[in-house]
Amino acid sequence: MAELVRFGVSMEERLLRDFDRMIKRRKWANRSEAIRDLVRRELIRSQWQEAGRRVVGTVTMLYDHHKRELPEKLIEMQHRHSAAALSSLHIHLDERNCLEVVVVRGKAAEVRALADSLIGTKGVKHGELVMSGVREE
Ligand code: NI
Repeated sequence: MAELVRFGVSMEERLLRDFDRMIKRRKWANRSEAIRDLVRRELIRSQWQEAGRRVVGTVTMLYDHHKRELPEKLIEMQHRHSAAALSSLHIHLDERNCLEVVVVRGKAAEVRALADSLIGTKGVKHGELVMSGVREE
């Protein structure tokens, strides 16, 4: 393991309390381990977001299909980005709620743009883009 460097971190008490709860929940050994993990994850994420890099991923959305024209809008966007939106899985959770997972592939910038427009559509209650990819040597 490379040599560790110590540095101080300041944050609001409340934020630190929430952070400590998360550390417990996710079973990190301590704050340092948690911060290292989070920093690594963000670094990978920002590398993947370099505009030209090719990625694969999923966009997960939870929405109410009774919201006016929402399902049509979401389908429309996927058609508009048909090169990036490969496939989708739709699950009718209950009377109102749908869970949809769209598998995406393309340049990080395109994938991000598609995900942002899907997730940002009014009526989408929750949405998340997960990007992955093989490291280009
Ligand atoms: Ni549905």
